[in-house]
Amino acid sequence: MTFSFQKPINLTLSRYPKSGDRSLRAWNAADEYLIEQLSQSKQINSPLLIVNDQFGALTCSLNSLSPVIWTDSQLSKIAIKQNLKDNHGSSTKPKFLEGDLANPQNLNLEMIKKMARFNTVLVRIPKHLSLLQFQLHVIKQLVDERSTIIAGGMTKEIHNSTIALFESIIGPTKTSLARKKSRLIFTQFKTERDYQASDGSLQEIDIKQYQLTNPITENQLLNVYGLPGVFAREKLDLGSQVLLPFLPQLSAGDIAIDIGCGNGILGAVLAQAQPGAKVYLTDESEVAISSAQVTFRENTLSNGIFFQSDCLDELPQIKANLIVCNPPFHQQNTQTLDIAKKMFKQSAKFLDRDGTLMVVANRHLKYLPYLKNSFAEVKIISKDPKFNVWQARLPRS
Ligand SMILES: C[S@@+](CC[C@H](N)C(=O)[O-])C[C@H]1O[C@@H](n2cnc3c(N)ncnc32)[C@H](O)[C@@H]1O
Repeated sequence: MTFSFQKPINLTLSRYPKSGDRSLRAWNAADEYLIEQLSQSKQINSPLLIVNDQFGALTCSLNSLSPVIWTDSQLSKIAIKQNLKDNHGSSTKPKFLEGDLANPQNLNLEMIKKMARFNTVLVRIPKHLSLLQFQLHVIKQLVDERSTIIAGGMTKEIHNSTIALFESIIGPTKTSLARKKSRLIFTQFKTERDYQASDGSLQEIDIKQYQLTNPITENQLLNVYGLPGVFAREKLDLGSQVLLPFLPQLSAGDIAIDIGCGNGILGAVLAQAQPGAKVYLTDESEVAISSAQVTFRENTLSNGIFFQSDCLDELPQIKANLIVCNPPFHQQNTQTLDIAKKMFKQSAKFLDRDGTLMVVANRHLKYLPYLKNSFAEVKIISKDPKFNVWQARLPRS
């Protein structure tokens, strides 16, 4: 089938969130390589599934094939929507693979059987190998011997372990030559579906768990669960570890927010120590929200409220007594302080006048000016050699 495609360079593509750094583009050499490969290939057919398109370069380039898009990231969804609109008009809406796919525990064969079989699947290699592993298990259910499956990534993102995953989950795999520091992976569906469990759920969904003693009450155990792709899913993050002893006991009726909650560790500690408080948890990643939900459920905590959201964008208008934050300083593989900056600014809006924002961050990260922009009182309350715990009070908004 012939189809029309547009090179990313000929499209109007913006990153989300917008970056002050003009050298950062909304696509990279791996996107270009994938698109060029497809344009030369004779076997490309819809239905097309695009996995992990970061800002929409692949989706916009291949719009004529009406792709279905699967991404874990709310930031990517926002970028893809906007870029599709800018390049193909406001009537062109992205078709996201939504719902329970993000939650492996709810993923079952009945649901998968109802989905389309894809003739072509494009995968941008994600940052976390565990997420790729999970995604490949799902993709395998959506393809057959006739499907074309091509992945692309920067050479630094593709290791022997990456290629081994394609080999072991999908089938025979080879790689392209490197070009502009990017590489493609070609994989052929081979074996029968060999890993379905008799109860219809997928095996090999690798959920990690660790346990800690609640630092507030000191007599409760908390089990923390991490789905594939979630931050610090195997063990407590060093930053969170430094912050935990400073978390206060909430009062009944208090409201707390855990912003960028990951597996829910910070919010769960607060919620467990005070079941009479409400804890709102947000993260831009769907697997993070699913992990936090599992953490709450498995510890029988019923006072968590969860939002997949860019910072606090999706939250209702609440006023919190406490906001806790271990902010990201990367978006995928790119360093950025922009997300933390937005988190602090929004925290000032969502805090009660007497409320407190607590932030843990690597000491080299220059957050002070951003915190001071939004709060009249900012101080460091920890003495750790690697991490600062900031306490910000008196929101300026
Ligand atoms: C350093 S991790 C902290 C996770 C967890 N709170 C902990 O302490 O282990 C930062 C988290 O922020 C999330 N995140 C990144 N960008 C975000 C955004 N724009 N809005 C909400 N969450 C975001 C990431 O997905 C990640 O889970």
